[in-house]
Amino acid sequence: MTTLLQGSRLGLAFGVNQVLDGVDVGIDRGELVAVMGPSGSGKSTLLHVLAGLLRPDAGQVVFDGQRIDSLSERARSRARLARMGFVFQFGDLIPELTLVENVELPLRLTGTSSRPARRAAMELLSRLEIEPVASRRVNEVSGGQAQRAAVARALVHRPEVIFADEPTGSLDTLAGELVLEALIAVAREQSTAVLLVTHEVRVAAYADRQVSLRDGHMSPSLTATR
Ligand SMILES: Nc1ncnc2c1ncn2[C@@H]1O[C@H](COP(=O)(O)OP(=O)(O)OP(=O)(O)O)[C@@H](O)[C@H]1O
Ligand SMILES: [Mg+2]
Repeated sequence: MTTLLQGSRLGLAFGVNQVLDGVDVGIDRGELVAVMGPSGSGKSTLLHVLAGLLRPDAGQVVFDGQRIDSLSERARSRARLARMGFVFQFGDLIPELTLVENVELPLRLTGTSSRPARRAAMELLSRLEIEPVASRRVNEVSGGQAQRAAVARALVHRPEVIFADEPTGSLDTLAGELVLEALIAVAREQSTAVLLVTHEVRVAAYADRQVSLRDGHMSPSLTATR
């Protein structure tokens, strides 16, 4: 397997708070890596740095052979839009839009015309078993359904990597497990790499590999995979 995304010697401080202090982390194409670590250890910050949303004070981020931390904001957003997907703890869907409109958004924003975008979005909604609520707005569906739509939105443009920051954190165990299984199944089919932040050992057990962030550093997690 080839390395898709590599963060090397990453450093980032918020004021005097040195959140990342020489972090090394990499993910291969198609790989599922769980990022663990206590609350406040910098997991979300690390994801933002790797996705080019935050610029590190030190170190570098290489995505598909190209440094992205030194690119312009414009070039970084273009890469994010076309080649990355995001799922957060609370879906962050656009409430004014229906589920299918939310899901087709990444395609529409990257130039796919409306009919093929709609078709791809509906296929994925059906794959995630929420086709029946596709034309409802976000506040008219359950938390689990909304979160599955957020997963569909992250996958619809077949990104190379998905950043999932506690994607099941707002759901109960069963709903969370279904969302996660859907995310992993489609990501595997598409060979999409997934960087999955989670507090839960049970969730991390789905990953190919676990890493743990503590005191600004990264270490292989002490918890064995499966
Ligand atoms: N924009 C910001 N400005 C200042 N400090 C910040 C900012 N974002 C995060 N921090 C601080 O950086 C540290 C790491 O935060 P981060 O959100 O990355 O942790 P986390 O590991 O994701 O925690 P959690 O598990 O609770 O989500 C915390 O001490 C937090 O207060
Ligand atoms: Mg966080």
